[in-house]
Amino acid sequence: MSLEKPFFGGNWKMNHGPTAARRFVGEFVERYPARDDRTVAFFPPSISVTEFRDAAAERPDLELGVQDVYWEEAGAFTGSISAPLAKDAGARYALAGHSERRHVFGDSDEDVARKVESIAAAELIPVLCVGERLEERDRGDVEAVVSRQLEAGLGRLSSEQIVNMVIAYEPVWAIGTGRTASAEDANEVHALIRGLLGERLDRVSVRGIPIIYGGSVKPANVDELLAEAEIDGVLVGGASLDPVDFARICQAA
Ligand code: 13P
Repeated sequence: MSLEKPFFGGNWKMNHGPTAARRFVGEFVERYPARDDRTVAFFPPSISVTEFRDAAAERPDLELGVQDVYWEEAGAFTGSISAPLAKDAGARYALAGHSERRHVFGDSDEDVARKVESIAAAELIPVLCVGERLEERDRGDVEAVVSRQLEAGLGRLSSEQIVNMVIAYEPVWAIGTGRTASAEDANEVHALIRGLLGERLDRVSVRGIPIIYGGSVKPANVDELLAEAEIDGVLVGGASLDPVDFARICQAA
């Protein structure tokens, strides 16, 4: 870890409606007292964001984000939410380019670029997700895939906007599979990402951008991951659904 404050994100994906979200908050706050040496952010399904916000009203240290946005600000786009709507609901962050958006819903690099741009324009913090599939890793294409996704995702942003974002490296083959990238393998890709950011920004600015790892993070492997120099935090799927497990994860480092 190189950042002063590690970043712990809980991506609930399509789980925990408002009722479960409220219950989760009640259980989580008992196990995780506020700490100012870390960032903890939740990405509930958008239908649960305001419920989470209200249930956690006494815990402003627990931040909120949404899992995806459409790039237009408002209008006739049935089923979608925009970055300004997410901001109005209390979000501070928005994911863009999560592998499930790319591979289940077909988001292209260009779509992701527009989403990142709209998130930054709404003055939310974009969490740009990148990561290779197993066949790409096996072909030795990790660097090519991650660089392409990163370059595309940063495409239209100014340096000031890039400084205010989070990058999540999530190898697709490690998501929801129980297979975690080894801490060293993940660290290597994080270093690559840091290097690519360095082509756009000065060194001090690059060091301030959290580059976090996602893919089967659990209480049992979080310490090892955060011990790596280039891993500044984690983005947790399955294990963030359980308040006990996630509270343990958020106490790591
Ligand atoms: P899992 O932790 O369930 O592997 O999910 C990772 C992820 O996709 C977080 O965004």
